Amino acid sequence: MSREAIPAVVNVDVEGPQINRHVYGHFAEHLGRCIYGGFYVGEDSDIPNEGGIRLDVVEALRALNIPNLRWPGGCFADEYHWMDGIGPKEDRAVMINTHWGGVEENNHFGTHEFMALCELLGTEPYISGNVGSGTVREMSEWIEYLTRDGDSPMVRLRKQNGREEPWKVKYWGLGNETWGCGGNMSAEQYAMDARKYATYCRNYGDNKLYRIAAGAADFSYDWTETLMKQLGHLGCQRVERPLYQAVSVHYYTIAGNWENKGDAKEFTTDEYYTTMVKAARTDELLTGHSNVMDLYDPTKEIGIVMDEWGTWWNVEPGTNPGFLYQQNTLRDALVASVHFDIFHKHADRLHMANIAQTVNVLQAMILTDPDSGALVLTPTYHVFEMNKGHQDAASLRVDTPAGLPSRKVDEAELDTVSISASRKDGKVLFSLSNLDADEAVDVDLDLRGGTLREVASRILTADALQSHNEPTALEAVAPRAHEVTATEKGLRVHLPAHSFVTVEGSVA
Ligand code: AHR
Repeated sequence: MSREAIPAVVNVDVEGPQINRHVYGHFAEHLGRCIYGGFYVGEDSDIPNEGGIRLDVVEALRALNIPNLRWPGGCFADEYHWMDGIGPKEDRAVMINTHWGGVEENNHFGTHEFMALCELLGTEPYISGNVGSGTVREMSEWIEYLTRDGDSPMVRLRKQNGREEPWKVKYWGLGNETWGCGGNMSAEQYAMDARKYATYCRNYGDNKLYRIAAGAADFSYDWTETLMKQLGHLGCQRVERPLYQAVSVHYYTIAGNWENKGDAKEFTTDEYYTTMVKAARTDELLTGHSNVMDLYDPTKEIGIVMDEWGTWWNVEPGTNPGFLYQQNTLRDALVASVHFDIFHKHADRLHMANIAQTVNVLQAMILTDPDSGALVLTPTYHVFEMNKGHQDAASLRVDTPAGLPSRKVDEAELDTVSISASRKDGKVLFSLSNLDADEAVDVDLDLRGGTLREVASRILTADALQSHNEPTALEAVAPRAHEVTATEKGLRVHLPAHSFVTVEGSVA
């Protein structure tokens, strides 16, 4: 059964703020099988690799144009000592990954391997430094090692390890979750540390750092406010202002609570709707943090970096609870598509977002089979691929004068249709999600200020919300061609129940 079509007005010639490509960013932590077995198999593996890096994973991710990759954590970052991960592999120190499964970390994947991975992916590195158990000197020297040219102790060490030229590293995290695993600090205590660390994170040559202060969990606006306040009143005139260029925030989507987050594949329709309400709260979250920042930075110079987001379910039965390995269904894909619509809407303040995490951990793009090595692209992967045209495009406002269909979910009201649009290089891309579990809906795109030609549409859906891909069913949830109908004013787009649709066309 179909409802009445929803009118959506889009002025294709009125460009809004640019959608930073970095909101399509990624995250790879030394956690479970994300690095080892996921990105990195070692040079002796039967799996085709370059310097130990899996080439099938690289190829799949290159198709997403991933703009950046955050590493080495997460909580792991605040226990990571970078000097343990350079030099001959056989001499590298072994440590225990106390956060994630208590397993041995042999440090075979270190700075040089990460930078090689970024080069293979054609992506920008985002390194998260250690504030929790590290030192200012350690962080400062890591930047010198990576980015300084000429001659200095760290440059000599880098050259000794086989790398002549400095790398370019722009994105730099000043710790992670410093209210928790990154040191259990108060906001005031961390704000002082952030000032200190930022001071000694230096720009070498034309490598201009973009420093990201470790931000709040969820809706803790006080944390953001403290960090914003502490950006002022600097004693030394010679330091770069602002001391940090962004404040981060982390927000995960769960259906239950932190003790029982819900099953990744076996969930009820009610749990599905609860999940969607939680995902949609990202709009409230970004609005809230942005409003606080406006008080101190009305011109929006400082960015929000949402460097951890995504679904977090109970681990797959039989897997190590510390490895955070979960399956990924059509529900996860819709969580991602809703996030992107919200990210596009906040293009003026949101500089970056990183889904947690890229391979084999939490809401992954890619799952690899530990025995056969087989690679599975998840439904979430396909949303990133279908949406990649929004990267660095101008956002377009979508008005729905008759409102959006909605449903009551406990105390909340959930809009069951979500739409965003952008324009780049003479092309317009629309993303439309129908979150209704059972009912289809049509959207009438009323396009003003231009005509759309060479229209192509794709759809991501499946029989059930619980549908997912696995080695024996690689394409259970995969994009397919979709028909849209030309109308007098633009286009009619049919959205089956629980579906994600993109429509692209040249604008004349
Ligand atoms: O992404 C998994 C973990 O979640 C990260 O290590 C940490 O920052 C967050 O709590």
